[in-house]
Amino acid sequence: MKTMTSWFVERLAQGMRVVECDSKASSSSNANSGVGFDPEALERGAKALREINQSPHAKKVLDLAKTQELTKQQESKAKEAEMKAAASQYSVQQEKVRWEEQRKYAQEQAQHKGEIAKFEDQLARRRQEESHEKERQRNAEMVALQEQSKKRIEAEKLAIEQRIQEERRATEAYRIKMEKEQIRMKALAEAEGRTQEHRANEDIFRRELLLKMKEERNKAVQVAKAVLTSLGEGARDILTDQTKMAMLAGGISLMALGVYGSREGTKVAARAIDRYLGTPSLVRDTSRSSMFGRMRRMFSSGKEEEYQMKDIILNKGLGERIQSLSGSLLMTKQRGAPFRHMLFYGPPGTGKTMTAKVIAKQSNMDYAILTGGDIAPLGGDAVTQLHSLFDWSATSNKGLVLFIDEADAFLGDRGGKMVQSEGLRAALNALLYRTGDQSKHFSMILATNRPGDLDSAVLNRIDDALEFPNPEAEERRQLIELYLKRYVAENKSVKGPSIRVDITPGDLSKMYDSIAKDTKGFSGRDIAKMMSAVQAAVYGSVDGILTPAMFKGVVDYKLKEFQKRKELPQ
Ligand SMILES: Nc1ncnc2c1ncn2[C@@H]1O[C@H](COP(=O)(O)OP(=O)(O)OP(=O)(O)O)[C@@H](O)[C@H]1O
Ligand SMILES: [Mg+2]
Repeated sequence: MKTMTSWFVERLAQGMRVVECDSKASSSSNANSGVGFDPEALERGAKALREINQSPHAKKVLDLAKTQELTKQQESKAKEAEMKAAASQYSVQQEKVRWEEQRKYAQEQAQHKGEIAKFEDQLARRRQEESHEKERQRNAEMVALQEQSKKRIEAEKLAIEQRIQEERRATEAYRIKMEKEQIRMKALAEAEGRTQEHRANEDIFRRELLLKMKEERNKAVQVAKAVLTSLGEGARDILTDQTKMAMLAGGISLMALGVYGSREGTKVAARAIDRYLGTPSLVRDTSRSSMFGRMRRMFSSGKEEEYQMKDIILNKGLGERIQSLSGSLLMTKQRGAPFRHMLFYGPPGTGKTMTAKVIAKQSNMDYAILTGGDIAPLGGDAVTQLHSLFDWSATSNKGLVLFIDEADAFLGDRGGKMVQSEGLRAALNALLYRTGDQSKHFSMILATNRPGDLDSAVLNRIDDALEFPNPEAEERRQLIELYLKRYVAENKSVKGPSIRVDITPGDLSKMYDSIAKDTKGFSGRDIAKMMSAVQAAVYGSVDGILTPAMFKGVVDYKLKEFQKRKELPQ
């Protein structure tokens, strides 16, 4: 079959070639001859085709060729389908890959976004923390600034106080100088007068002078005796010793020349005796000798209030401790044990000073009261004065309660921010030195509003620290009652028509309760002042009678005043 087909194909090809060659030859010969067509070639071709047609296998061969062609076509279609399938699989594959990549990309994006969000969150949190930290620092700085300004204000207050004290001292010194000058001028004037008189009548003057001198001396002796008698035991030997007496009288008569009988003369005499007996000038008040203090009280127009233990209203715990300390002071001396040192601290006007005075007076010991504020203006002299004070306290037979009020004014923290002069530092060191060991001569009581400002070495010497707080409602009620009685109801010292209270006991009691409730934050001093204002209102009234309306009016006014005072910048 194959041979037949190839023969057929050959024949066909031959026919075709013949036609082709002939057409080429004819076209060239046509070109040459100019005719253009060769009918032989066509005939040969037709002959070949006829031969093919006449062949018995021609149809078979044609069928076969057709079949082969079909098969080839189908094969090519199958291949094409295969190719298409492969292509579509490839594109599916590609799609899958693309999708996978997209998914991965989306995942990465999401992860990335998550990380960014996390990072931003961390950043925001860190920023917030930093801002909190800054806020905290700012607050701390504000607190520190406030603290500083408070301390600075306190230091300024202290400085102003010191300046006031200094000015007071300077005025006092100036006054004394002027007094002396006056006395000198007077003496000079008198001397001048006498000289003139003397010139006029020498004999008469001599006789008169002798008489006057005798008189002066007698007066001096009388004054000295009067004041020394009131000193008691300590001064007996001076009284009985004629030589000492004569010396003292001489001293007084010289200083008080020509002014006996006047207040000034008596003051001069008292100072002379104080100096003679060696009372340190720092001491403001003492049970020992202070003639000047007594004379001052004798001649002062306002009577200084005297308090007893029963007049001090304290909370129960504090009251009991004070009682026991007061009692133990005397026992300590009797048994020869060392004295304890105390610190009274608390807000102003809560009874620290009055308690210390009462303890000192009631413990049957000598007492001396000085104020820290008096020490600052002494400058370099403070050390000498303090040493002479401690030397003096050791000479008391009974033992001495040494009360230092406003202690923070000179016992302030050496390392603190408060400005402290050289003199004050030296004074503080002197006190530390003299109180370093336990003493059998004196018990020191310090009082202050600002215990925190005291030097730690001073605090270290304290055996008992007692806090004096502002009174609670119950104590306030007692204080109101006490001072209303003292200043109005039982005030016997009023001259002229007596004053009285026209409120029933029941109403009065109710008023005490309500005022006690309203006076939260008042100190003992505030309440005493309130009742003193009530007293002033009664004095000012026509009939001298305290009515409920008047009482309430004054109290309301004082309450408002207190509120306003509280609102003032501290
Ligand atoms: N607890 C109290 N009991 C009775 N009276 C008091 C009391 N506290 C204060 N007073 C009255 O107030 C006045 C002032 O009291 P005191 O001088 O003792 O106060 P302070 O605590 O020493 O004040 P400061 O700290 O200002 O020196 C007293 O004279 C008294 O009239
Ligand atoms: Mg006081």
